[in-house]
Amino acid sequence: MVHLSRLFLLCILGCGGLLLALPAAAAAPAGNDTCLMCHADKDARNGQGQPIAVDPARFKASVHGEMQLTCVMCHADVADGKVPHADKLKPVDCKGCHEKAVAEYRGTVHGKARADGRTLAASCTDCHGTHDIRRAKDPASPTNHVNLEATCSKCHGSDAYVEKAKLPGGNVGRQYHDSVHGKLLAGKGPERQMGPECTDCHGTHDIRAKDDPQSRVHRARVPETCGSCHDAIRAQFTGGQHGKLRQQGMTGAPGCNDCHSAHDIQRHDLPRFQLEAIKQCGNCHQDFIATYRDTFHGKVTNLGYTQVATCAACHGAHEMLPASDPASKVSAGNRLKTCQACHADASASFASWDPHANKHDRARSPLYYWAARFMEVLLIGVFGFFGIHTVFWFYRSLRVRLAAGRPHGEKR
Ligand code: HEC
Ligand code: HEC
Ligand code: HEC
Ligand code: HEC
Ligand code: HEC
Ligand code: HEC
Ligand code: HEC
Ligand code: HEC
Ligand code: HEC
Ligand code: HEC
Ligand code: HEC
Repeated sequence: MVHLSRLFLLCILGCGGLLLALPAAAAAPAGNDTCLMCHADKDARNGQGQPIAVDPARFKASVHGEMQLTCVMCHADVADGKVPHADKLKPVDCKGCHEKAVAEYRGTVHGKARADGRTLAASCTDCHGTHDIRRAKDPASPTNHVNLEATCSKCHGSDAYVEKAKLPGGNVGRQYHDSVHGKLLAGKGPERQMGPECTDCHGTHDIRAKDDPQSRVHRARVPETCGSCHDAIRAQFTGGQHGKLRQQGMTGAPGCNDCHSAHDIQRHDLPRFQLEAIKQCGNCHQDFIATYRDTFHGKVTNLGYTQVATCAACHGAHEMLPASDPASKVSAGNRLKTCQACHADASASFASWDPHANKHDRARSPLYYWAARFMEVLLIGVFGFFGIHTVFWFYRSLRVRLAAGRPHGEKR
């Protein structure tokens, strides 16, 4: 009832206004005043009770208001200015004026999803707004650097939306927010402008699924994307064994996000990251983590302390090379220097200690192998001997006890 009466009121207002505006309106396409007669009312609602108000001040401050666009340039099906107009109007098509952006958007993961009828994916207006669209450099724009996290997180950072749309990766917005990059964005000083927000890694009108080879976050392209800011690290990485393998097209070798993650990136000196990195190396180099865990360094990090040598402390984090390469931190020529970074008075013989000595590998570690075998024999010998000894002992004491426990007078 409320809506109907309001509708009626709107009509009266509109028709009255139209009569006044008629001479002008009949000649030229409808001016904004015609539309705002009804739509400037803050409480205006449609038949379903949804708001249909347009704030004239906000529209004026938008880029389209600034360019003096009229309402009907977007709402083209009321261009004749005949009011009251039809209840349902066609959706606005941005293409007429932004052909390039529309074409780009079509190729993105969101554009493709929408074209397939998955309407939960982002449309132009989900990222830009409707009557309050601003240029990206305007600090009030949802596409401004400092606001983009919130814009993407409306969906990718909302548990409810993630669940409803089955968004890949889960709540990545929350992960990002707590990362080293997210913290830069949450700062107050000039650092706000330095860290990457979502689109610095994903692109804006070229956001693609991670398994799309054209995506900036496709496995093969991640080092390039991160390297756009971390260029010194990328150069180190490219010279290392993993980077070299990547260039030969072996994508099984790790890229930045295998060790650092994509959205949960933490400072490198935090114990949480250092310990996690050891596990990441170990996922691929299983023999080497097993031998590492047998050493003092490996046992200490296993207990959660990071003051000792991690894999990266000996091999480097990005520049690791085979030991046979003279440039490797563990080559014969560099090994002593590597140990001396922590063991200041280490000698050449100290450095010859094998950090991956393997008690099962007779060729690699003969001394360790035979010592381990000797210990095994000793262990089996000792337990075997005393085991048998105990069995006989038990048997004897049982007999003695049984004999002692018989009632008096009874004969054997
Ligand atoms: C006489 C008052 C009046 C005037 C003048 C008017 N409108 Fe509306 N408009 C309405 C009402 C009422 C509705 C809600 C219709 C409904 O119940 O769904 C509406 C809805 C709309 C919608 C939403 C349509 C949809 O599909 O949901 C758009 C867009 C719109 N108007 C644009 C305009 C434009 C542009 C002008 C100027 C040319 C204009 N209106 C002039 C009363 C008016
Ligand atoms: C840059 C294009 C553009 C201009 C200019 C524009 N609109 Fe819209 N308007 C939109 C978009 C986009 C929507 C969202 C619905 C859709 O996609 O069709 C919308 C929706 C609406 C609605 C439905 C309620 C809502 O907010 O979703 C009304 C009413 C409306 N516009 C009125 C106006 C009036 C009045 C003017 C002029 C003051 C105007 N529009 C100018 C793009 C525009
Ligand atoms: C996922 C969010 C998102 C979607 C969806 C999106 N945009 Fe954008 N758009 C952005 C961001 C972010 C920028 C700012 C880029 C920059 O910093 O220069 C931008 C920039 C623009 C620009 C100005 C720069 C240029 O490329 O010309 C236009 C125009 C534009 N978008 C129109 C559109 C249109 C039209 C659509 C729908 C077909 C759309 N956008 C869909 C996020 C989006
Ligand atoms: C009638 C033509 C027209 C329509 C329709 C239109 N725009 Fe625009 N838009 C413009 C003009 C003109 C500019 C200012 C361009 C400039 O100065 O570079 C602009 C600017 C923009 C900008 C800022 C570009 C920048 O340089 O940062 C964005 C974003 C934008 N429009 C998005 C949209 C979206 C989204 C739609 C559809 C809902 C839309 N526009 C519909 C004409 C239009
Ligand atoms: C520092 C770069 C970077 C930033 C910033 C970033 N991402 Fe990502 N994102 C990536 C990489 C790399 C991948 C691919 C991860 C993989 O291959 O497992 C990815 C994957 C994704 C995925 C797919 C997840 C999956 O597991 O399938 C989504 C969704 C996503 N990002 C959204 C976002 C959103 C939203 C933001 C901002 C809140 C954001 N990203 C910020 C680099 C980034
Ligand atoms: C209106 C909600 C919404 C907004 C806003 C949104 N997205 Fe999405 N996004 C989705 C949906 C839904 C999908 C899944 C599309 C599909 O079904 O393939 C998706 C998919 C993605 C993917 C592909 C993940 C993969 O690897 O498969 C990335 C990356 C992504 N979005 C990043 C972003 C970024 C960056 C922004 C902000 C600039 C953003 N999204 C804004 C809803 C949204
Ligand atoms: C094999 C695992 C691994 C890969 C791949 C990797 N990193 Fe690292 N990264 C590490 C470890 C471990 C550290 C900590 C090193 C330390 O403790 O000195 C680190 C440290 C860092 C640091 C901080 C230290 C500094 O010197 O500023 C940055 C930034 C960084 N990595 C970026 C990258 C980028 C960008 C890539 C891809 C080109 C990448 N990483 C690839 C493991 C890796
Ligand atoms: C838009 C630029 C930009 C991009 C793209 C970017 N970063 Fe960063 N990153 C920064 C800035 C700025 C910092 C903070 C300053 C610093 O410590 O170097 C930072 C910090 C880091 C740190 C912590 C450094 C430390 O001292 O511990 C790591 C690790 C890191 N980034 C990894 C990555 C990875 C991995 C990617 C790609 C998935 C990436 N970054 C993409 C700008 C970027
Ligand atoms: C995603 C899997 C993966 C991760 C994670 C990984 N690596 Fe590798 N790494 C490889 C592959 C594959 C090779 C090449 C092996 C080959 O050529 O036989 C390699 C080669 C090496 C080499 C050169 C020795 C050789 O056999 O070529 C060293 C040293 C090395 N990795 C150390 C590390 C360290 C230290 C870490 C952790 C900071 C690490 N790796 C993390 C896959 C990985
Ligand atoms: C205390 C220093 C140190 C630590 C800690 C360490 N390594 Fe090593 N690593 C070495 C040395 C020295 C060699 C070369 C041994 C040799 O001469 O064969 C080596 C060899 C390797 C190789 C084979 C290189 C080749 O050329 O064949 C891999 C792979 C490797 N380590 C991975 C790891 C991983 C993964 C970790 C952590 C789980 C780790 N290392 C921890 C010092 C270390
Ligand atoms: C990141 C620092 C760091 C690096 C690099 C490092 N260590 Fe250690 N290591 C430690 C610390 C700390 C301890 C425990 C305190 C101690 O004994 O000095 C330790 C303990 C040891 C121990 C057992 C305790 C002992 O002193 O007998 C051996 C053996 C050892 N390191 C050998 C090496 C060798 C060989 C290298 C070079 C290939 C090396 N370490 C590189 C930090 C490091």
